[in-house]
Amino acid sequence: MCGIIGYTGPQRCLPILIDGLRRMEYRGYDSAGVAIINGKGVVVKKDVGKIAALEALVDADPPHGTIGIAHTRWATHGEPSQINSHPHLDCRGHFAVVHNGIIENNESLRETLKAKGHKFRSETDTEVLSHLIEEYWDGSLEKAVAAALRLVEGTYGIAVVSDLDPDKVVGARKGSPLVVGVGNGENFIASDVSAMLAHTKQVVYLGDEEMVILTPRGYRTQTLNEIPVDREIEEITWELSQIEKGGFPHFMLKEIFEQPKCIQNAIRGRLMEQTGEAHLGGLNLTDDELRSVERIVMLACGTSWHAAMIGEYMLEEYCRIPVEVEYASEFRYRNPVIGPNDLVIVISQSGETADTLAAMREAQRRGARALGICNTVGSTIAREADGGIYIHAGPEIGVASTKAFTSQVAVLAVFTLHLAHVRGMNPEVNQELIHELKAIPAKIERILKSDAQIVEIAKMFQKTTNCLYLGRGYNFPVALEGALKLKEISYVHAEGYPAAEMKHGPIALIDEKMPVVFLCTRDSAYDKVLNNMSEVRARRGRIIAIATEGDESVRERADQVIWIPHTIDPLVPLLSVVPLQLLSYHVATLRGCNVDQPRNLAKSVTVE
Ligand code: G6P
Repeated sequence: MCGIIGYTGPQRCLPILIDGLRRMEYRGYDSAGVAIINGKGVVVKKDVGKIAALEALVDADPPHGTIGIAHTRWATHGEPSQINSHPHLDCRGHFAVVHNGIIENNESLRETLKAKGHKFRSETDTEVLSHLIEEYWDGSLEKAVAAALRLVEGTYGIAVVSDLDPDKVVGARKGSPLVVGVGNGENFIASDVSAMLAHTKQVVYLGDEEMVILTPRGYRTQTLNEIPVDREIEEITWELSQIEKGGFPHFMLKEIFEQPKCIQNAIRGRLMEQTGEAHLGGLNLTDDELRSVERIVMLACGTSWHAAMIGEYMLEEYCRIPVEVEYASEFRYRNPVIGPNDLVIVISQSGETADTLAAMREAQRRGARALGICNTVGSTIAREADGGIYIHAGPEIGVASTKAFTSQVAVLAVFTLHLAHVRGMNPEVNQELIHELKAIPAKIERILKSDAQIVEIAKMFQKTTNCLYLGRGYNFPVALEGALKLKEISYVHAEGYPAAEMKHGPIALIDEKMPVVFLCTRDSAYDKVLNNMSEVRARRGRIIAIATEGDESVRERADQVIWIPHTIDPLVPLLSVVPLQLLSYHVATLRGCNVDQPRNLAKSVTVE
């Protein structure tokens, strides 16, 4: 979603701001803009479209200055247009504001401000902030921003500059992420560390309802009531190369190919094969507390929700504990039954998804303990959870999640092992799971060698308008994930279904034009799925099968087969999803779609 970058220091800020925006392009946006203090006033340049359009605009008349803010917008209030793009100015053009989030009481604030004579230009909720700051201006930018924000209901990550208080960038957050980048004689602010990673790895994460005042010489953090807050400087461990394409045409393809390494990182140092134990340092739960858990509730959105479903199957099978998986957005609004004997596991790649965060807070409010399974270190969910497990997948830039999904599943397997051990389950079963988990990276490497074959299959199906994905048991969530991947990046309508449920509806769709992707691996559901495949074949559906190497029965029934190595049932998703990721990727590129930034989607959905 929207991205923010701000700079104050000795350098010309325009190239730093544009580069920062580019690094956040992956989040999804529809317009972009900058505001720069140039010694005479505030210069704002903004337009709809890609950052390249903004670059063309600034190249025509480049604003000079060393203090500025910039923004990529993903429209919520008001269509994508030049006027609605950020930054937004007040009546006299002294205060420029960029904002992520939603100001819920913007209409009443707008009416009050209009009554006082303020003139609005845009349809955005954000513009009320510039006018409120103008209204409260009394010689100090941070005081005016604090006074304005005290009136605001909703969520925000903001950055503000003014030619009336010219060497400052003031930032504040509530609900939307905002991070300070601490440099040498220069300082940064951004909604995403990747925007400033080229300049500094020293960061300070702001808490909710906190502000930061940046100058080239330093920074200070405070509450909206102007009480100083101490926040530690943390070191980012990512390398710049991790947020670059490294020779791949798209981030998504790079991330698919990174999966063997990611799984290794997710399990490294956490497994003890000899004893069947797993070590997880950040759970903040004693063995006794884990034994007393009566139920697990897993909350997530999108791809992370599919990983949660696989976690449910594993935890129920290995730990014999009831597990419920719920969309975070539904959970938070339906008065759920949850309390101190429940353990909530919140899964989120970004750690910032608004619905997931709100659902976690709701569960905590009702007395449950929450564990966060996140990728982004220092994200809001990671910090507010009572304990957690990082998946260590490294930055995921492609909007369609791939390596985070498999890393989440790997970490859920490690957590399952830990809980099974603590609850006294059979150690031999655990040892087998550990042994098989360690073999997964090499098996994914083998699947990745089928890429050229998958390109050929994608060519055959690139013109399709519909596609059905069927799987059973552990492969049912994989069918959902395969269908989601295809929808997200190629805009082909796709549905995932439990293979046996096909008879209760989707079978009516099957004809010689309908591609059906079958997940038919040698697992406990195998015979049944094979029967379902015969039912589709009898109706002349076109079958693409994901099957276990050497399976002749599948070869006889399917039009195309992509082979994967054998593994035990709970780990099959780590393998069977990989060809589906590649298939969607190639269908999308053949159709000319923008794979890394699909239309209307955002990497991190920070509004509900
Ligand atoms: C968005 C992304 C998806 C992601 C979902 C949940 O919809 O486009 O790829 O699965 O959010 O994100 P999270 O960061 O919470 O895992």
